[in-house]
Amino acid sequence: MLKPVIKWSGSKRSQSAIIKEYLPAQFNRYYEPFVGGGSMLYAIDPSDAVCGDICIPLIGLWNEIKNNPIELSESYRLRWTRLQTEGYQAYYSIRDDFNRSRSPQDLLFLSRTCVNGLIRFNANGDFNNSLHHTRPGISPDSLKKIILDWSKHIQGTEFVAADYTITTESAKTGDLIYLDPPYFHTKGRYYGTINFDTFLTYLEQLNRKGIKYMLSFDGIRGEDDFTVELPKELYKRHEFIPSGNSSFKKVMDKESIQVLESLYLNW
Ligand SMILES: C[S@@+](CC[C@H](N)C(=O)[O-])C[C@H]1O[C@@H](n2cnc3c(N)ncnc32)[C@H](O)[C@@H]1O
Repeated sequence: MLKPVIKWSGSKRSQSAIIKEYLPAQFNRYYEPFVGGGSMLYAIDPSDAVCGDICIPLIGLWNEIKNNPIELSESYRLRWTRLQTEGYQAYYSIRDDFNRSRSPQDLLFLSRTCVNGLIRFNANGDFNNSLHHTRPGISPDSLKKIILDWSKHIQGTEFVAADYTITTESAKTGDLIYLDPPYFHTKGRYYGTINFDTFLTYLEQLNRKGIKYMLSFDGIRGEDDFTVELPKELYKRHEFIPSGNSSFKKVMDKESIQVLESLYLNW
């Protein structure tokens, strides 16, 4: 499985190889307007792409990975070394810095040293997860290799901090859009929310313009069917993709709950 450069809630890391099998044989520009930790972007590895997210510090971090990978790696080394020498106070001081400045370098450090690597914000956008006391955080040398590798893969990608409708405004017939919006049944779990009706109108417009989309969506978890059915006229195929990394599944591990996520295709 790919090594993430940004650990992000709701990552498609464990499904990206399966989802990739559904790609159309050919497309021009690739768009990913809910990019998060970019697992699909890495799996698809497009030469021409536009990716966006509503989370401004996240997009700041993507631009640092793309444009300043060495400096970013060194900024992690400085913070990580401080943590090893000063202890937990260094973590909370850097977290305060992030909550004042929204610095991408601080965000990278927090994501690699916080509890279970879960990037978590409160309603004001303040980072609120604690230090993972029993782990030192990935070593600067290992992270540098990952950053440099991803940096090579994203040179043809433009990153924008924007609403999904804006990120894909320039899409044309022949382009492909992969959509992984926040789940509609887990309000508040992710940064930002989207309006379901606006989203349906958006899909309708993509169909009218002849733009292909792949949409990951709510699915089935054990006995519970969370499927929010899309109106039939909006898509051509509805597949179920097994998901291996649900945090819910980890908690309930012994019961081995089957988690399936929807993938809708409009061709
Ligand atoms: C399920 S996550 C995407 C995860 C991603 N596929 C990955 O592998 O890491 C949903 C993302 O949508 C973003 N988001 C929420 N509302 C948005 C909006 N209105 N426009 C663009 N992005 C939004 C969140 O910040 C979050 O990163």
